[in-house]
Amino acid sequence: MKNISEDQVKAPEEKKHTHEQSGDERPFTAAVITLSDKGAKGQRVDESGPAAVQMLEEAGYEVREAFVLPDEPELLEKELIRLADELKVDLVLTSGGTGFSLRDCTPEATMAVADRNAPGIAEYIRMCSARITDRAMLSRGVSVIRKGTLIINLPGSPKAVRESLGFILHGLDHGLRILRGSASECAAK
Ligand code: MTE
Repeated sequence: MKNISEDQVKAPEEKKHTHEQSGDERPFTAAVITLSDKGAKGQRVDESGPAAVQMLEEAGYEVREAFVLPDEPELLEKELIRLADELKVDLVLTSGGTGFSLRDCTPEATMAVADRNAPGIAEYIRMCSARITDRAMLSRGVSVIRKGTLIINLPGSPKAVRESLGFILHGLDHGLRILRGSASECAAK
């Protein structure tokens, strides 16, 4: 497949972000976890986490926590459980650890804590990203639900995070409202 440049892509992130009308207008809460061995050791500055935080805040989310973890599945599982069960954030984004390196374990740790699969989000990220780079197929990221929290794996570079999040942010709104129980109608859009 021929790669195309970013400015040739007419991606859904260009749609205006609008909140649905519902009884619950509290801002969505979120947390961002960056998976990086080097980042956790302070050998690399994490730019992908801050990029995700900035985009979430610009979209009206309240970001409760953002931190870096090494690529250790047990640590990630523990944090995902805490964020979903205790902090009860609406959304957890992870960045990194979705590739083919032997240390890349983000999807497996995410699936280990999942109650339900929500594969359409990860599929949509890969589908839209494939219009930018054929390497999009190398991300094994998953999207799942644990209790009332949606967990989405993003690929780790700041560029990949901006692109991936740009594709899904608009559509997430409706899903998160349904997860909260504050929206049930799916008017055709
Ligand atoms: N998706 C988008 N939108 N943009 C990108 O630049 N990079 C790919 C892929 N997905 C990329 C992308 C590459 S090169 C890899 S190796 C995988 O994500 C896995 O990245 P990770 O190991 O940092 O999670």
